[in-house]
Amino acid sequence: MNATTVNVMFAVASAALTFACGDGGSRSSQKQDTTRAAAFAVSSQPLGPIPADDSLARPKSLRQIGVPIALSDSVVPKDNPQTPEKIALGEKLFFDGRLSANGTVACASCQQPQLAFTDGRQVAVGIDNRVGQRNSPTVLNALYNQMQFWDGRAATLEQQAGLPIVNPVEMGQPNLDSAVARIAAIPEYRATFIRVFARQPNPTDLVRAIASYERSQVSFDSPFDRYMAGDSSAISASAKRGWVLFRTRGRCNLCHAFADTTTGPARFTDDTFHNIGVLIVRHNVVPLARQAEQAIAKGDTIAIDQAAILTPMSALGRFLITRADSDIASFKTPDLRNVMVTAPYFHDGSAATLWDVMDHYNKGAGLRDPYLSTEIQPLALQERDIDDFVALMALTSPSYRELGAKELARQRQLSRTSRPQRDSARAFGPKPVQSKPPSR
Ligand code: HEC
Repeated sequence: MNATTVNVMFAVASAALTFACGDGGSRSSQKQDTTRAAAFAVSSQPLGPIPADDSLARPKSLRQIGVPIALSDSVVPKDNPQTPEKIALGEKLFFDGRLSANGTVACASCQQPQLAFTDGRQVAVGIDNRVGQRNSPTVLNALYNQMQFWDGRAATLEQQAGLPIVNPVEMGQPNLDSAVARIAAIPEYRATFIRVFARQPNPTDLVRAIASYERSQVSFDSPFDRYMAGDSSAISASAKRGWVLFRTRGRCNLCHAFADTTTGPARFTDDTFHNIGVLIVRHNVVPLARQAEQAIAKGDTIAIDQAAILTPMSALGRFLITRADSDIASFKTPDLRNVMVTAPYFHDGSAATLWDVMDHYNKGAGLRDPYLSTEIQPLALQERDIDDFVALMALTSPSYRELGAKELARQRQLSRTSRPQRDSARAFGPKPVQSKPPSR
């Protein structure tokens, strides 16, 4: 990226600020500032210390009920085989703030093992408490994603790992070489890189080590996995009703579909992108699309990353990468494993609870939007059905069992007083007529 692009991106970032201020809905407070470096939205909830590299962070065994063994092997790239030393190096790097420009932010700041490798925030907070536009997705089972990030802008975990390091609101390094220089100054790291990769620290091996560590985060063995493996008492009667609804009236399996149908639903995603109407109403996507076409060269990964994290163009989702109108506001179908412990939900963290997610689907949010997926329709689900769906989300691995129980109680309590997405008239009404996309 050249200097001009950088300036353009800063200008767009300030535009994002003004936009976000008028938008109201964000949990983060926005500060206007006179200095150029501070032309970013700043969170009122500061980033805490880098979380501990504790037992929840350790590499996981493949010996868990439900693990797709063949798939687990096939997702490891030929040029980056898993070895225990490399995974250990990646783990160390994952928790090391020295990868960030001022030493305060590590990968683990947003991917906290104690919170199922998320951060519990609506949107991620990085260096100098700057806020981005996207909710931190979990690293658990990310090895199976065919593409990384909510919009799939990285094809591999290796590519993914490099982008937050150089994003100005995440880890803030000017480039990967600066991060490598910090690491290479430490004799122990130098020795480990030479042992693992037979050469001095460099950007390629840095992201390879981090990706290898991430591929060790396999998380199955949930009550649902045990149910699918034949233990009919592993989940509640309510969850069993939810499982039937998931594949029938809920239409969830149309997208949260299963890669491996012969041995059971290993994953809850079709690995593609859909516009399901998440806050689409807040954004006027047509001018945004025009802006993206003018401001960002196709395939400019760094510029796309910055647009996705720093600007209102974030709402365009997959369109930022493909420029296909059909991808406007489309996001990747997330795997639903451990979803009970990864609130808040959706790419922008706009759903606080699983009840809010269900209310969203029940009313067919965004149904008049011309770019909405045609699979979305009002579902006419009763409250009891919604409770059954939430019970089905017993997809929590044993290490998060306690957190899952606490989180379920917290969300249930919150849902008794706050249901901002509920709209029964629409949920039980007819499917409205969808407008045609405007010509652009
Ligand atoms: C048309 C495809 C489609 C259908 C049908 C669908 N989903 Fe989704 N789901 C998605 C996509 C895409 C996202 C991410 C959207 C976003 O963030 O903008 C998502 C997000 C979610 C999330 C939030 C996960 C997270 O980590 O933030 C949950 C929970 C979920 N869906 C459950 C369901 C359930 C339950 C049903 C059935 C009632 C369902 N989905 C039907 C595509 C679909």
